[in-house]
Amino acid sequence: MLFEELTQVIQNRRSHYAYDFIDKKISKDTIEKIVNNGIWAPTHKLTQPWRFVVLEGEHHKDLGKYMANYYREIYTEEEFSNQRFEETKSYPEKATLLVLIFQPSKRSNLPEWEEIAAISCAVQNMWLSCTSLNIGSYWDTGIATINYINDSITLEDNEKCLGVFYMGYLKDDLPKVNRKRKPLSKKISWHKR
Ligand SMILES: Cc1cc2nc3c(=O)[nH]c(=O)nc-3n(C[C@H](O)[C@H](O)[C@H](O)COP(=O)(O)O)c2cc1C
Repeated sequence: MLFEELTQVIQNRRSHYAYDFIDKKISKDTIEKIVNNGIWAPTHKLTQPWRFVVLEGEHHKDLGKYMANYYREIYTEEEFSNQRFEETKSYPEKATLLVLIFQPSKRSNLPEWEEIAAISCAVQNMWLSCTSLNIGSYWDTGIATINYINDSITLEDNEKCLGVFYMGYLKDDLPKVNRKRKPLSKKISWHKR
């Protein structure tokens, strides 16, 4: 049964954007349970190359403003719309925002990709945990988001922001989306000597 339940959680996991969130806070206890599952991810040499920061207070408004202004600057006049600007400004307001900070180990000499792979495992653990709790979530690696974090949080020299993990309780009436993956037959082969 465990395999079937796990398969269900894995296949039901999806990216839910903040437009789908309702105005209900995720409790500190629940956030800690989700992040605790994150930190049980595997890491080569047990480096655990991460730390996580929950953004509170004015950050939601400030991030929204930052993103809206960023897009106003990069969009052409035809691309820019005032409605989009206003939507972007309020976009993060209902979300719980968890900053993903990559902290490569100073001692291990591991290639960076292994350390980033490890933090990706942690994110997947949190993503699946959210699915099992009926909390929507996704990993935002947008440039505006990362620039905002770099401007607002003090990172050590070797640290890097790898984005923000958005979480929020979901609206009840969300339409079912048709999710796609390439067939397994295109992604697996068997090689025999
Ligand atoms: C490393 C990584 C970075 C991502 N960054 C973004 C992002 O910046 N913005 C976004 O809308 N989605 C982002 N996503 C979510 C993907 O677009 C999404 O996982 C993909 O479309 C598959 O959809 P699903 O998660 O619903 O299965 C990211 C996913 C990963 C794994």
